[in-house]
Amino acid sequence: MTLPSKYFYDQSGSELFDAICELDEYYPTRTEASIMRRNINEMVSAIGSANRLIEYGSGSSLKTRLLLEKMQKDVTYVPVDISGDYLETVAKRLRRDFPKRRIEPIAADFTLPFQLPHSDTPRNRDVVYFPGSTIGNFKPAFAATLLSQMRNQVGKGGGLLIGFDLQKDPAVLEAAYDDRRGVTALFNLNLLRHLNRVAGGDFDLEAYRHIAVYNDREHRIEMHLESCREQTVTLAGRTRTLEKSERILTELSHKYTVSGFTEMAAASGWKREEIWMDAKEYFAVGMFRS
Ligand code: AVJ
Repeated sequence: MTLPSKYFYDQSGSELFDAICELDEYYPTRTEASIMRRNINEMVSAIGSANRLIEYGSGSSLKTRLLLEKMQKDVTYVPVDISGDYLETVAKRLRRDFPKRRIEPIAADFTLPFQLPHSDTPRNRDVVYFPGSTIGNFKPAFAATLLSQMRNQVGKGGGLLIGFDLQKDPAVLEAAYDDRRGVTALFNLNLLRHLNRVAGGDFDLEAYRHIAVYNDREHRIEMHLESCREQTVTLAGRTRTLEKSERILTELSHKYTVSGFTEMAAASGWKREEIWMDAKEYFAVGMFRS
């Protein structure tokens, strides 16, 4: 059985994800933020005269603050997130801290086509910001579809500033997705709680165990929930039986090489302009132009 990763992000899932970002083992957020801080001036000049910044899966918008502080004052920021309540909370804070910027949140599932807000400016120069290696949560074929969708949204001359996680020692990867304090385990189990609430599920949260393994061949972390015993579960009106030790796949997190990612982006109409990395080459942020 596979359950869609987007159900991680209800209010408490979004908060648990923020807690993951603070963990010692979870290097991506910290590493990406330091890449952003170190290269922020170059990034802002690569963004250039764009007057609209559209963020896919904005979450807490923490890294975006670095960009908003330095971008021209007339920029409109469009955070797109599936968790509508959390989005409003975050938008309120941003309006307070950036009173001159226009903040136009969209509660949408960015894996489906959605409309950008209508703007009075006749010609927007758009840049999509897609940090956090969220692109890695999709299989490469669908990641390419998303990159094409972004390309179509911004049109010719638009930009893409995107963070992606790099291939590295599997032990580092597995620790990042199975931390000692068990926060990632709670995050994984919260998906069941969310589905119990919104999809009439009856998962017993005590009866599943969190697992994270690196799949070498596909270059990805796979998160599962393993059934601790034989049990039946009903979800969306459908009942099925899980064997003892049967695994439910809840998330994939693909790890790329810079050249592999660049090729995938190129196939979706994006030319690489610049790549920034940390010293250990754990993580990359790239600027692409359509
Ligand atoms: C930041 C959403 C891409 O794959 O690293 C973190 C989500 N899952 N720990 C990732 C996540 C488990 C995460 N994304």
